[in-house]
Amino acid sequence: LMATAAVFCFGATAASAQTIGFSQIGSESGWRAAETTVTQQEAERRGIDLRFSDAQQRQENQIAAIRSFIAQGVDGILVAPVVATGWDSVLEEAAEAEIPVVLLDRMVDSSPELYLTAVGSDLVHEGRVAGEWLVEAVAGEECRVVELQGTTGSSPAIDRKQGFEEGIASADNIEIVRSQTGDFTRTRGKEVMESFLQAENGGADICALYAHNDDMAVGAIQAIKEAGLKPGEDILVVSIDAVPDIFQALAAGEANATVELTPNMAGPAFDALEAYLADGTMPEKFIQTESKLYTQEDDPQAEYEARKDLGY
Ligand code: AHR
Repeated sequence: LMATAAVFCFGATAASAQTIGFSQIGSESGWRAAETTVTQQEAERRGIDLRFSDAQQRQENQIAAIRSFIAQGVDGILVAPVVATGWDSVLEEAAEAEIPVVLLDRMVDSSPELYLTAVGSDLVHEGRVAGEWLVEAVAGEECRVVELQGTTGSSPAIDRKQGFEEGIASADNIEIVRSQTGDFTRTRGKEVMESFLQAENGGADICALYAHNDDMAVGAIQAIKEAGLKPGEDILVVSIDAVPDIFQALAAGEANATVELTPNMAGPAFDALEAYLADGTMPEKFIQTESKLYTQEDDPQAEYEARKDLGY
């Protein structure tokens, strides 16, 4: 379908500014806010007319926004899909309208023929890195882990869970004893951690927290402190994103490790769209971003300073 679309799109907008629709999930986390800011800045820098739609976490709002972008006749569409399933019809509609779609940071279960490319990290790998870090950190000691999952049905929640389980699979001393969604938000992260602490002997039976994002970890750190325990010592904290607030927690000794997810997905996405719209260049189906592990040893204060003004 994308190959057919290319026939009609080549050079169509080469001389004029492109119009790109962006269906964003919402603003559930610091990372998400940064992705929005970076995308807007990147569009401005390139002279792209960006039409932005905030779905407030609802897939139906995203589908409506994509339909509206199609009706407006945009040159391309970026979508960060809140959940993985349920996209076939609207992606088929975009393909029929010969409008290329690029997925940002989360994946869908639809056929890859229905989108131009996806820009994101290897989400399973991120979870594996977090799990392997914990295996080393506890060095054979018994460790009961509580897990805060991301939004149910989202590709990062599914893949980061799988990756972490793979990362700890070889360690019989580590066991996930509780696992529940905190919806990628600080508030839910705190609330769910409070219930974990209560259920686990006031937290005394918990050795580590694995959170699918930093915002939930930051909320949970607050809950651990309010329960009279020391996060980072009494309960180890490992999470994903590398937002400025987790570097502050690392610097304070209240978090132990994070795996970076870059918020700059739009740069590679616009590159792919621009090349495709100019002369039909087909990008790779998956443009992978880096996943770097940071711990307390990696000068977290400097990492905080480097990120604090980036729109998080
Ligand atoms: O899809 C990426 C995830 O979504 C980020 O890790 C999280 O912070 C965000 O809400």
